Amino acid sequence: MNYTLIATSTFGLEKVVANELKELGYDNLIIENGKVTFEGDEMDIVTCNMWLRTADRVLIKMAEFKAETFEELFQGTLSVNWGDIIPITGFMHIVGKSVKSKLFSVPDCQSIVKKAVVESMKKKYRRDVFPENGAEYKIEVALLKDIVTLTLDTTGAGLHKRGYRQFAGEAPMKETLAAALVLISKWDCSRILADPFCGSGTIAIEAAMIGRNMAPGLNRNFISEQWDIIPQELWEDIRKHARNSINNKEFKIMASDIDSRVLKTARENAEKAGVADNIFFQKLDVKEFSTKKKDGFIITNPPYGERLGGEKEVEILYRTMGEVFERLNNWSYFVITSYDNFEKCFGKKSDKNRKLYNGRLKCYYYQYYQR
Ligand SMILES: C[S@@+](CC[C@H](N)C(=O)[O-])C[C@H]1O[C@@H](n2cnc3c(N)ncnc32)[C@H](O)[C@@H]1O
Repeated sequence: MNYTLIATSTFGLEKVVANELKELGYDNLIIENGKVTFEGDEMDIVTCNMWLRTADRVLIKMAEFKAETFEELFQGTLSVNWGDIIPITGFMHIVGKSVKSKLFSVPDCQSIVKKAVVESMKKKYRRDVFPENGAEYKIEVALLKDIVTLTLDTTGAGLHKRGYRQFAGEAPMKETLAAALVLISKWDCSRILADPFCGSGTIAIEAAMIGRNMAPGLNRNFISEQWDIIPQELWEDIRKHARNSINNKEFKIMASDIDSRVLKTARENAEKAGVADNIFFQKLDVKEFSTKKKDGFIITNPPYGERLGGEKEVEILYRTMGEVFERLNNWSYFVITSYDNFEKCFGKKSDKNRKLYNGRLKCYYYQYYQR
């Protein structure tokens, strides 16, 4: 069957997600705030869940219509053939959100949608009662300025959950954002890469997975694996293909941090992700960071002065970073921080910057290219 699919993303990462989709061979992409919409079938649902590194979720768009009353919401939802996807035993879990809309009571919208979905199923299956003891179908009713979008989540736990991170440091970064930082930098594994504030190792691990062409979803499960519409063989085939796609390229990423406790976590995470051989972890204060190697990349997420340390301390740290990085031989560096005065403290204006969100924190990704 053909579906309209939505890859959702954090604000600021839409174009990165769209680029990933293009690389996977998709076109006619519609890029909007927080989402990229495209067309695909069951195989595409599996492929996108398995391979997208920077998206949050893959959803099936079931309907979009205007609703200012509960009756309009009910009728719009009823007109969808839910039984095409949801079996008699399907457990229907409805979630909702409403922004700037007349129908603002989310619990009411959820229960109206549930009633309408069940009515639509009654027509299809010619029965009145549904046991809901089977696979889960998470339906979202999202209202934005009175436009209702009904979606079915094919992912389950967000795509940032790759399965390798059991432990995190103090201010861990989402795996999807870490992957985006690497993709935006255009690093490739023939180049040296360092993260001198590696924390639990997320940037280094995501980069190593990109370098080794490891599918981010290979070691986890997805809610739609339980669905009848997607044959089990499809999941098996795409997993097998993903396993065969892993290369054995030899490269080393330098990951360091001042805190030895967090390095232990980072090593365990890298081990679990299967990339421990590609990362050299080291306890090091950034001020000691030096190398004679040329043309490398730094991609890093230093303390912001929000949770860790105070303002002054962070300013001194950024100044040190500026001095240390400038001594390197023709390196490019990429720094994400929420600290407004970063460039001034660092001592150099970036060639490019980009607004991104790390959790709810507005940040900039400062990009300095080698000359
Ligand atoms: C924002 S966290 C990095 C989080 C990391 N991206 C992750 O996903 O876990 C900043 C890290 O900088 C480290 N750090 C603070 N001051 C440092 C210094 N002078 N030299 C090296 N690392 C330092 C902290 O120990 C912390 O782990």
